[in-house]
Amino acid sequence: MSNQQTFVPAPLPRDAKVYIAGHRGLVGSAIWRKLEAEGFTNLVGRTSKELDLKDRNAVFEFFRTEQPAYVVLAAAKVGGILANSTYPQDFLSENIQIQVNVMDAALDVNVERLLFLGSSCIYPKLAAQPIREDSLLTGHLEETNDAYAIAKIAGILQVQAVRRQHGLRWISAMPTNLYGPGDNFSPKGSHVLPALIRRYEEAVETGASSVTNWGTGTPRREFLHVDDMADACLHLLEHYDGPQQVNVGTGSDVTIREIAETIASVVGFTGNTEWDTSKPDGTPQKLLDVSKLREAGWIAGISLEDGLRSTVEWFRANRSSLRE
Ligand SMILES: NC(=O)c1ccc[n+]([C@@H]2O[C@H](COP(=O)([O-])OP(=O)(O)OC[C@H]3O[C@@H](n4cnc5c(N)ncnc54)[C@H](OP(=O)(O)O)[C@@H]3O)[C@@H](O)[C@H]2O)c1
Repeated sequence: MSNQQTFVPAPLPRDAKVYIAGHRGLVGSAIWRKLEAEGFTNLVGRTSKELDLKDRNAVFEFFRTEQPAYVVLAAAKVGGILANSTYPQDFLSENIQIQVNVMDAALDVNVERLLFLGSSCIYPKLAAQPIREDSLLTGHLEETNDAYAIAKIAGILQVQAVRRQHGLRWISAMPTNLYGPGDNFSPKGSHVLPALIRRYEEAVETGASSVTNWGTGTPRREFLHVDDMADACLHLLEHYDGPQQVNVGTGSDVTIREIAETIASVVGFTGNTEWDTSKPDGTPQKLLDVSKLREAGWIAGISLEDGLRSTVEWFRANRSSLRE
């Protein structure tokens, strides 16, 4: 495979039709907001009820009717450690079906630019830190989310295969852990940061004297605000063209313990934090090497503290309508 890449500015026409698959999700909704704010006038989205992306015929029909010029593939079955390790078959099968259907249908109508979103869990569990893009497929995956990771790796390969076989300038981006308005705060399906926000917020509400978190608190993680992620996605669509997936992150990490302490302070929890070390920690460190993204001309702009404050505010304002 040619690894040739370019960083040529190529602004997308603001009146072009852009389909955002998963436009109500954390990432999709942020991309929708970003594109609207940037003057895009022809955005298309469908909820999973309106268009189940596992339904291949319906997806083809949708693409033939709508004929989008650009596609952002932010629809996926997404979850934290618990959901991933409990339902690996669902995560593997549903994600592969969604991706294959959307990409095959996009190819069918010759979509010029498609951005596929994966996740940093595609990289080997013990990849050298910070994780470079070329460490993909060089070692074993973290077992708790290997099924999800394999589905995402298949997506990256499909983007590369389409480029090679059909010459379409599709690209892939691999975000680090994301957070922000619109996140999933469900006790069963959430990622670590929204789970911690909910737990500490509920402890304040109930007057609990202590909070217990999973694991040792020592794993290091990187967190990117989803509005920064959306900004990076548009930047890549307008500036990056290459077969290799691009890491999207801040370039710095914190321990889970540190993030828990910051959240406790932001929500005003003054009790004790305990760590249930019988529960799994997951990968010891996950920090993306973001040199390629920087080379493409983008850096994160929202600090963790500011991002957490606005996310807690959003959580408080939307308590009655959170997804379960
Ligand atoms: N959250 C993170 O920390 C993170 C980190 C790295 C990468 N990512 C990647 O970013 C992408 C989006 O993640 P997210 O966090 O935004 O997830 P999310 O908030 O759970 O949103 C996922 C979206 O996918 C849609 N969807 C799921 N199954 C569908 C189906 N069968 N048919 C149609 N739509 C379906 C849902 O639509 P409805 O709402 O209409 O049901 C939902 O809006 C994923 O590829 C994920 O791997 C996320």
